[in-house]
Amino acid sequence: MIRVGVIGATGYAGAELVRILSGHQEVELTVLTSRQYAGVKFDRVYPAMAGIVTLICEEFSLNIMCERVDVVFTALPHKTSMELVPELIKCGKKVVDLSADFRFKDVSRYETFYQQHTAKDLLEKAVYGLCEIYFDRIQNASLIGNPGCYPTSVILPLAPFLKQNIIDLNTIIADSKSGVSGAGRSPSLTTHFCEANESLKAYKVAEHRHNPEMEEVLSLEAGSPVNITFVPHLIPMTRGMLTTIYAGLARKTDPEEIEDCIASFYSGRPFIRICPDNTLPDTLHVRGTNYCDIGFKLDVRNKRLILISAIDNLVKGAAGQAVQNMNIMLGMDETSGLNNIPKKERII
Ligand SMILES: NC(=O)c1ccc[n+]([C@@H]2O[C@H](COP(=O)([O-])OP(=O)(O)OC[C@H]3O[C@@H](n4cnc5c(N)ncnc54)[C@H](OP(=O)(O)O)[C@@H]3O)[C@@H](O)[C@H]2O)c1
Repeated sequence: MIRVGVIGATGYAGAELVRILSGHQEVELTVLTSRQYAGVKFDRVYPAMAGIVTLICEEFSLNIMCERVDVVFTALPHKTSMELVPELIKCGKKVVDLSADFRFKDVSRYETFYQQHTAKDLLEKAVYGLCEIYFDRIQNASLIGNPGCYPTSVILPLAPFLKQNIIDLNTIIADSKSGVSGAGRSPSLTTHFCEANESLKAYKVAEHRHNPEMEEVLSLEAGSPVNITFVPHLIPMTRGMLTTIYAGLARKTDPEEIEDCIASFYSGRPFIRICPDNTLPDTLHVRGTNYCDIGFKLDVRNKRLILISAIDNLVKGAAGQAVQNMNIMLGMDETSGLNNIPKKERII
């Protein structure tokens, strides 16, 4: 059994990790950390896990981590992660970090949008954990920068087209809608029920921190700069993310070529589902799962390709992809612990 610890286990991404890992046949959860709930049973914080998870939350301790875990998930805010991860790596642990701290190759880009990086030497070693694109690198990694939810939903539909000269890479617009759990568990005015319920609003238009992340990855893959106009929205649902991408066509194409392009790129990838026969993704169809559903429409009249993706922000956009990364790093079946079918209940 692989011994696993989750740092930040009572946050939304951390709790989702606990939910997924508690059903994973090849791992044993051994340490859950939380500052606010240290000494409290995890199932008191999340009663849905009563009878399933019996661990008591603990304060983070490097000694405990070194002794009692093989793999660590850091489900912490950015900046906090890079304070802890270097010590965990020094201890020989494999780490999947869910924050933005190890996602960037270009440190100046990170520092422009976040803050000074205090573990720069690890950026070279870290692998961007978008499993469908970087599977081979992930196999040999010991540190994963788990992708952001918006970048996952934007990069996956676009990746098949980067080298096909089908779309003009200078014309891409991505419009995303995220459920409120994307903002984490700490209460704020924006996520207050009365502010978010029955409301739909754009925020951080063309200045969201996930914008440079998606641009960096797509540019590296395309071999030339890719700039995206990105507009995120908050929608009144708990979990789920729908992204619509508009890209000008670089040449004549047809729906068969588009479908072939996506289907061949993702052939054999268990978590990518191409919507058949002109159907389109729906967040409800991926809820609670690690799937990314992708659909498209060719707008021939306006010479545009419209790509639509749906993910669960807490699963493929965070904890599920993190577990997929662990599975690949450890040479296990990448679907282990992730075979749940779509669900319709609440957060956990
Ligand atoms: N929510 C999503 O959909 C999503 C998607 C992709 C990526 N992520 C990323 O995943 C990470 C966690 O996000 P989240 O949504 O789970 O946030 P969250 O609900 O606010 O949880 C963050 C957790 O980190 C702990 N924490 C906060 N500050 C800390 C500090 N200074 N030192 C140690 N622990 C601290 C908190 O627990 P205690 O205060 O009890 O220690 C809390 O459990 C973030 O980096 C986020 O960007 C989230």
